[in-house]
Amino acid sequence: MDERLERYVAELFAVEDPVLARVRGRHAEAGLPAIHISPEEGQLLLVLLRAIGAVTVLELGALGGYSGIWLARALPPHGRLTTIEKDPRHATLARQAFAEAGFQGRARQIEGAALDVLPTLPPGFDAVFVDADKEPLAQYFEWSVRLLRPGGLLLCDNAFFHGAVVDPADRSATAQGVRAFNRLAATDPRVVSAVIPIRDGLVVGVKVAG
Ligand code: DHB
Ligand code: MG
Repeated sequence: MDERLERYVAELFAVEDPVLARVRGRHAEAGLPAIHISPEEGQLLLVLLRAIGAVTVLELGALGGYSGIWLARALPPHGRLTTIEKDPRHATLARQAFAEAGFQGRARQIEGAALDVLPTLPPGFDAVFVDADKEPLAQYFEWSVRLLRPGGLLLCDNAFFHGAVVDPADRSATAQGVRAFNRLAATDPRVVSAVIPIRDGLVVGVKVAG
């Protein structure tokens, strides 16, 4: 998209309030990599979750809590965001972010590796947002589909992985992981999916069967 159009859309549809701006600022000060979602992507997640009336959302990879605030804001007061983060530094920042946004009660943060935590979670989530390490993405796909309710939303950040998915020279485990997720999202009969070319690409799928 043309840069001016991008700015136009961002300024009109994806305005950050002071809480989000502060959380993003603290994230940068703490030296976390600037790989969190953009406000435009946050707004899109919020719209998608509202569209299905999501009450429970699972996030893989909290980072500094920026995306978690967008997800939690989409939920009704009795809603619940469950977010998994394995890095204790990130988890501390995320906890602070949720407290600042007033979501302590609505956000349940679990510290640990996703593959250890996922088998302990009860199924039935309205949506799963995958934004964690990239190597295990095929396993994250499987767990996400298992834990989603029928009609639930499968959301995954970094579908393009900065173009690595179409670079045949990139045989890295991370690029392979992203390709594997995309292929599963596109071909597994339990979901129907599309990619929205926002920021680094967002996979949006719906669980249609078992
Ligand atoms: C990178 C970006 C992401 O959004 C992410 O979730 C992980 C890694 C990156 O730029 O390397
Ligand atoms: Mg990401």
